[in-house]
Amino acid sequence: MSHVLYYSLTGNTKKLAAAIAQEFGVAPTPVKSLAAVPGEGLLFIGSGSYGDRPGEEIMKFIANHSFSGRKVALFGTSGSGQGKEVQGMAEALKQKGAIVIGSYHCKGRAFAVVNIGRPGRDDLTAVRLFAREMAKLG
Ligand SMILES: Cc1cc2nc3c(=O)[nH]c(=O)nc-3n(C[C@H](O)[C@H](O)[C@H](O)COP(=O)(O)O)c2cc1C
Repeated sequence: MSHVLYYSLTGNTKKLAAAIAQEFGVAPTPVKSLAAVPGEGLLFIGSGSYGDRPGEEIMKFIANHSFSGRKVALFGTSGSGQGKEVQGMAEALKQKGAIVIGSYHCKGRAFAVVNIGRPGRDDLTAVRLFAREMAKLG
């Protein structure tokens, strides 16, 4: 059983979350609606990048829970496409005991005019492939 948790302020990372979740026939869960880390199975955790950091809600969720021994695959979107949001989550999760097994990041539409159409069809195809690869490791 895989679980897909995410924070998405403007909907881009939510598209990745939905594509990943569909691979496993589960519903993606906004992190704010979670009181606890879902039990058992691989965790996919995603966020957009805001000031080159993951969303505050996802960082608080990570800080407030134990991920001891849990396998986690990360995903994110940003204006720059640099992946600083997945790096930030990876560092925080490792400190909480998680085993980060991989990550996927791509550009997301930003400030109305930047990266229009991203994440697009190719990004969603790539993230589905990523999800399947991670499931083999998870
Ligand atoms: C408040 C705010 C701050 C942002 N800061 C950055 C940033 O520092 N670096 C970057 O590459 N993109 C930045 N972006 C662009 C977002 O990372 C990009 O649009 C991303 O796809 C948003 O994901 P979301 O739609 O899931 O919220 C910012 C966007 C917003 C709204």
